[in-house]
Amino acid sequence: MANDGLLITNARLVNEGRIFDADLRIGGGRIDEIGGGLTPRSGEPVLDANGRYLLPGCIDDQVHFREPGLTHKGDIASESAAAVAGGITSFMDMPNVRPPTTDREALAAKYALARGRARANYAFYLGATNDNLDELRAVTPAECCGIKCFMGASTGNMLVDDPEVLERLFSDAPVLLVTHCEDSPTIRANEAAARERYGDDVPLSEHPRIRSAEACYKSSSLAVELARRHDTRLHVLHLTTAREMELFTPGPVTGKRITAEVCVHHLYFDASDYARLGTRIKCNPAIKTAADREALLEAVRDGRIDVIATDHAPHTLAEKAGNYFEAPAGLPLVQHALQCVLEHVHDGRLSLELVVERMSHQVAELFGIRDRGYLREGYWADLVLVDMQQGEPASDAGELARCGWTPFDGLEFRSRIATTWVNGVIAWQDGQLTGAVPGQRLACNAAR
Ligand code: DOR
Repeated sequence: MANDGLLITNARLVNEGRIFDADLRIGGGRIDEIGGGLTPRSGEPVLDANGRYLLPGCIDDQVHFREPGLTHKGDIASESAAAVAGGITSFMDMPNVRPPTTDREALAAKYALARGRARANYAFYLGATNDNLDELRAVTPAECCGIKCFMGASTGNMLVDDPEVLERLFSDAPVLLVTHCEDSPTIRANEAAARERYGDDVPLSEHPRIRSAEACYKSSSLAVELARRHDTRLHVLHLTTAREMELFTPGPVTGKRITAEVCVHHLYFDASDYARLGTRIKCNPAIKTAADREALLEAVRDGRIDVIATDHAPHTLAEKAGNYFEAPAGLPLVQHALQCVLEHVHDGRLSLELVVERMSHQVAELFGIRDRGYLREGYWADLVLVDMQQGEPASDAGELARCGWTPFDGLEFRSRIATTWVNGVIAWQDGQLTGAVPGQRLACNAAR
């Protein structure tokens, strides 16, 4: 493999709850050795980390890279380039593409599409619908990272709203079930009321009242109730409200049957940002109040939230230019996700060790990902070198995702991603993609 074999010296490693000074040797795509005072072997290149932080690469369990069928918004090549620029070394992609990934043949075709084109490692979800139970029952943990169920309608019309199907899905899913939870009837009623009041010109600030906290709780509490009754292995995606936090238990992911995810934008923005950013931050579920955001951060700290992800969901600016009802929901996030979360570290609100736990260790545990997610000898060298001393501005012009814009445009981050390794290969260095395309299919075991 190109670039392979390297000694990283003078790094501050962040791993398994500790920060410590060490050197790290990469060989054969894996972490060969971790220790103090390692010396280069003959001909071995050396990278002096100069005291910067070396983290296991982030594993993003929720992205929409839009392939197949929606590639004007992004594809596996373009979006995985943005991912490695942001320190994300593995991603799990959603099934709301065209055609949707709702049978095992489509799943296999998607893996074939990704081969040789992904800069980061990848796994794909199989999508649930009201009428594909037989396909879902037949899928194995080797074939996918989980089954995705939209319990609320969002981009791509993959709603599962038949109560009988939901019962059978929760009782029979042979692998991890991940859910998008928003109650569609509640949302439709709120939309109708807003239309009555404003016509088509509903202000964006109404979004969190339309896609309301009640709509979220109604659906996520139903998911948790179904999972408890059927002993389903359930992971609830992109939670956004204080009240939903009562549905989850603190502590490490190991042994939990019901786990929870939050996304970087819900930890960063709040309802006051709609006035400035409008449709750029329209997403489902909606960004809610500052008090909700504080409750999410608290749940990240105490472990009711197990995983921090992105829900990277690019749409073009032309698409986003529509009115409230026309503008699609979703925003590009992978390129600045880690930097965005590190802002909370700079503010003393999250520790660096905790960020690594929620963005790497626990994701690897939750999905049973083999040999990744930690800085351990013998594990794949998926690494990110972070400079916490030197920041950088984010801008639409610097966005690598195909849509060419970022919700962080004009913002000055206090950290930057210096280098990203995927399988021991440098994919991003000093503000540049290296051209390497080292992503491999993830070996997951997200069993029921
Ligand atoms: O905001 C969102 N965008 N939420 C989703 O659930 C889907 C996503 C998309 O695919 O655009």
